[in-house]
Amino acid sequence: MNHLGEARNLVEEVFPKYFSHQAQTVVCAPGRVNIIGEHTDYNDGFVLPAAIQFYTAIAVSPRTDSFVEAVALDHNAQRVRINLQKSIVNNKDAPWSDYLAGVLQEFQKHGFTLSGMNLLISGNVPQGAGLSSSASFEIAIAAAINTINQLGIHGRDAALIGQAAENNFVGCRCGIMDQLVSAMGKKEQAMLLDCRSLEPTFYSIPADLRLLIINSNVKRGLVGSEYNLRRQQCEDAAAWFEVSALRDISIEQLKQAEGKLDETVYKRARHVVTENQRTIEAAKAMAAGDVKKLSRLMAESHQSMRDDFAITVPAIDTLVEIVSEVLGSNGGVRMTGGGFGGCVVALVPLSFIHKVTEHVAKEYEKRSGLQETVYICEAADGGFADS
Ligand code: GLA
Repeated sequence: MNHLGEARNLVEEVFPKYFSHQAQTVVCAPGRVNIIGEHTDYNDGFVLPAAIQFYTAIAVSPRTDSFVEAVALDHNAQRVRINLQKSIVNNKDAPWSDYLAGVLQEFQKHGFTLSGMNLLISGNVPQGAGLSSSASFEIAIAAAINTINQLGIHGRDAALIGQAAENNFVGCRCGIMDQLVSAMGKKEQAMLLDCRSLEPTFYSIPADLRLLIINSNVKRGLVGSEYNLRRQQCEDAAAWFEVSALRDISIEQLKQAEGKLDETVYKRARHVVTENQRTIEAAKAMAAGDVKKLSRLMAESHQSMRDDFAITVPAIDTLVEIVSEVLGSNGGVRMTGGGFGGCVVALVPLSFIHKVTEHVAKEYEKRSGLQETVYICEAADGGFADS
């Protein structure tokens, strides 16, 4: 059975054990991998992610009172109870429930009066791997609320609510990419997202290519603080150029700032400006089936993240090197996600999958002292793909 079926069946079957009645329905939302366009979303730029076949699933039923009662199977079946008629606050004993509380609060801020609900939650998106298990949780919660209250909201609104929950309640200043692709991703397609207009355009991933995701299993430290620092540096650069976001800066304008703008801030800006261009070009290359170009763009993206944005770590650089030794220009490889560990993503022709994974199995531990985890994915539908 696939990951979607597994996650759905599990929560549906186990629900009566915790709530002594059947669930009304099951909703799901996927994790994501970003093919190219890193740290560009909060600069109003472009990203090219895909939703992947790993999910958070929630079995849900309505209640007649004002309580939301939730059980998280993956957190020792911990149970929380939130009263929708009282002010919603953080729960230090159950940090996972902050995502739930934050999404509920954002729906309320939008003026929705919500029904009480019973929720049973479980997921198979690898956690702490940079594959957006939290965005998939937020979007699954939004889907549960949407279904039980028959709100008929659009995937874009669900994504904005999820992002706001994370920004305002959880305290991470993330951009919109993860939530938007978890909500609106499409099977077999990569999504070029203009993060200013929030308009997605879909590009078929060439049929022969697979999304090979390799988890470096580097323990991620400092992710939140370094992420917020990068965001601040980008805002400083935009302020220096007197624009609202780095999206509005051309390569020519950027070059003129060299030597005048603080050196670190200049490098951060150079990453964003060049990455935006690479992302648009990558979408075009995908449409043209130009794998050689994709390969070059992904390699340049990785170098830029390593040298200008300073978000890679040695084990990740080594992993990218090992993959490209076998893949050459037959596919692309780069670090994916916020950085400081996590996964690399590779676009790999079917005929190369075995060679690549074998070479990684042989070399990665030898060169880094760590063991990888491999996921072979195809692009999946988002939790609001039909909206
Ligand atoms: C994290 C954030 C996203 C995005 C990426 C970097 O995944 O949640 O909004 O900024 O990092 O591209």
